[in-house]
Amino acid sequence: MALDRTTIPNDLQAFWMPFTANRQFKKAPRMFVGAERMHYTTADGRKVLDGTAGLWCCNAGHARPRIVEAIQRQAAELDYAPAFQMGHPAAFELANRLVAIAPEPMAHAFFVNSGSEAVETALKISIAYHRARGDGARTRLIGRERGYHGVNFGGISVGGIVGNRKMFGTLLGGVDHLRHTHIPENRWSMGQPEHGGDLAEDLERIVALHGAETIAAVIVEPVAGSTGVLLPPKGYLERLRDICTRHGMLLIFDEVITGFGRLGSPFASQHLGVMPDMITCAKGLTNGVIPMGAVLTTPEIHDAFMTGPEHLIELFHGYTYSGNPVASAAGLATLETYREEALFERCAAMADYWQDALHSLKGRRHVIDIRNMGLIGAVELEPMAGAPTKRAFAAFLDAYERGVLIRTTGDIIALSPPLIIEEPQIDQLIETLGEVLDRLE
Ligand SMILES: Cc1ncc(COP(=O)(O)O)c(C=O)c1O
Repeated sequence: MALDRTTIPNDLQAFWMPFTANRQFKKAPRMFVGAERMHYTTADGRKVLDGTAGLWCCNAGHARPRIVEAIQRQAAELDYAPAFQMGHPAAFELANRLVAIAPEPMAHAFFVNSGSEAVETALKISIAYHRARGDGARTRLIGRERGYHGVNFGGISVGGIVGNRKMFGTLLGGVDHLRHTHIPENRWSMGQPEHGGDLAEDLERIVALHGAETIAAVIVEPVAGSTGVLLPPKGYLERLRDICTRHGMLLIFDEVITGFGRLGSPFASQHLGVMPDMITCAKGLTNGVIPMGAVLTTPEIHDAFMTGPEHLIELFHGYTYSGNPVASAAGLATLETYREEALFERCAAMADYWQDALHSLKGRRHVIDIRNMGLIGAVELEPMAGAPTKRAFAAFLDAYERGVLIRTTGDIIALSPPLIIEEPQIDQLIETLGEVLDRLE
């Protein structure tokens, strides 16, 4: 029997949900059964405004016809082709289109299936790159406190979110962390904060401790998202870039959430004018519709592997679904939708309106900070005494009941609407959030 889209299963136990309070959810499930443009439809027929582009991924909104048709067509024409030692046109075309919108030095794309896999791939490439050049002692990886780089072992090792790390043993060896950049002087920042650029000098401390000749790469999010939106202080990324260049360490920007227009340029690197050696991306690459990610690299990194006999595999890494045909078709149609509707430019044009609307919440109950950049916003709440995260989670539940999807992490409300959002929808989002804040305990 075909499952009706609106059928609610009567047993919710088998599905162990990711990053979810399973017991709470299963007592009072929140089910989406449809989505179109800026709205979800719930199982009980209500419309919910998407204030988060799903999980920062549906940048063009939902059910976009070009993407839907491309997936249907590709599935019927060539559903799968082996990813190793065989090719198909869509993956090559997507790589070409991707590097065409990426910052200038990026010339190659390695396809994966998620942001987490993009991170693992970039970390592995960075170690293997140095080795391929005869510099095999460079194996250390440097991340940053509060960083989020997905949930695989490499990613949680360089990542700096305690809850994601502490349950999982000793993690990768040879990893160190920069201090995070979230400092109280920067409260109420609109765009890049004024203070804290010098925190990049922390990298010199780590270099002095371990020796630059042991460090392969430094990975940071240009704007840290999942930890609750931490913006890069002015001059900070530039200094990281300088220090990496000076010491021969690769700089990786994890652009899984900042890629594909979130700040008003294709990538944050372009928006912020700082070029890394590798970019990890996923999410908005296919508008979230089909899992896919990519690592973008410079020719220098790629070419370091292209030596030795030509019949030999150059990089012993890849996934069954790397560059999957249906995902590639979704990616091509997504990039075309962004171009056709000038959605990155649209984000840039909406950013001021968004900023004003968001900061109008200053002074509401429990709000201790608001910050924004592009179409990203965060509203930080004073945690409830003795019950961290509870207040923000209550806000999430109430907003959902009032027809707006927000996301919370710790006691921070993070917003990242699809780039097609209209001004009245921004008003609705912010007004609803204001009402929610007023009602919070
Ligand atoms: C910066 C960053 N890196 C990596 C990831 C992991 O992506 P995925 O959940 O697709 O594995 C995320 C997800 O939010 C992210 O924000």
